[in-house]
Amino acid sequence: MSAVLEIQGLEKTYRSRRRGVRKALDGFDMVVEAGQVHGFLGPNGSGKTTTLRTVLGLIKPHGGRMTILGREVPASLPEVAGQVGAIVESPQFFPHFSARDTLSLLADAGGVDRIRVGEVLELVGLRDRAKDRVKTYSLGMKQRLAVASALLKNPRLLILDEPANGLDPGGIREMRSLMADLAASGMTVVLSSHILGEIQLICDSVTIISRGRRVAHGSVADVLASNSSSTIRVRLEAVSDLPAAAQLITGVGAHVSVENDHLLVSGLDRPAFVTRVLAERGYWVSELAPMAADLEDVFLQLTGTAPVEGAHRQVDQSVAVGAPAAGRWGQ
Ligand SMILES: Nc1ncnc2c1ncn2[C@@H]1O[C@H](COP(=O)(O)OP(=O)(O)O)[C@@H](O)[C@H]1O
Ligand SMILES: [Mg+2]
Repeated sequence: MSAVLEIQGLEKTYRSRRRGVRKALDGFDMVVEAGQVHGFLGPNGSGKTTTLRTVLGLIKPHGGRMTILGREVPASLPEVAGQVGAIVESPQFFPHFSARDTLSLLADAGGVDRIRVGEVLELVGLRDRAKDRVKTYSLGMKQRLAVASALLKNPRLLILDEPANGLDPGGIREMRSLMADLAASGMTVVLSSHILGEIQLICDSVTIISRGRRVAHGSVADVLASNSSSTIRVRLEAVSDLPAAAQLITGVGAHVSVENDHLLVSGLDRPAFVTRVLAERGYWVSELAPMAADLEDVFLQLTGTAPVEGAHRQVDQSVAVGAPAAGRWGQ
């Protein structure tokens, strides 16, 4: 496998009179392999947009290295730009133009054959509405038009910053299936989001960013495995046996906590061992279930920020895990 996008030690500090000095990227690393849908996840303010804008040459970093398709950027951006499609700010379209007119205009401007307009309309599922004016479109349709515009030049790498922002659940579902189609066609896709549920389902791999640093990366399965403790829930036929059972399990070296009607057991290599230890003493296990850690738990644990909409802290933004939140910038 080869990396389509590689970032090493990226640094960016914003200085503004009003907001002072702010370290947005603090030695950030990221690797995206070819053919993947890569989730770029982090709370609001963690540095996602700054990273993507830097990669695209829209802002200048203060340190670090970046390559796209093996070429150093920003120096080689002119050579690779034709292979990168991106939507970083939400694009504005003429409301009185149809999707087809809009894309034809963009195709002409970019030297793209107009045949491609029909293809991308088909790809993003806008073919049937292609002649309607953009002002009659839902937000989801406008997003799809934006994606269509980024697809015109048939890029090898597609970068979308928060593509699901503001979409309703139906729109998000459509966006997800579109991304899956694009990945199936061999394109590499990078999607950023501060809301996990939106994109977790379609990502092959993820990078989690917090306060300008990478805090986890790899396949979704690996990130889960290396960041979740393997806790199992144990129920017994008789709730009154729980304290005695807890003692037995503690005796073989596990960590046990007694909950209302079950035990939580961690620190065992082979969870099934619990069954044997208890059965030998006549305690019958009625349930032995791994506690499903999902990406949301990991995200929360690593960034100190709830990853679901409505529940997230308006942080600027992630807090230091295991450290006081105060004074976290620039010290
Ligand atoms: N133009 C700017 N001037 C000053 N600070 C900025 C600017 N853009 C972003 N920041 C700050 O940099 C940090 C990272 O922001 P950003 O990259 O937009 O995060 P994200 O996209 O993950 O929400 C935040 O603390 C934000 O307030
Ligand atoms: Mg952003």
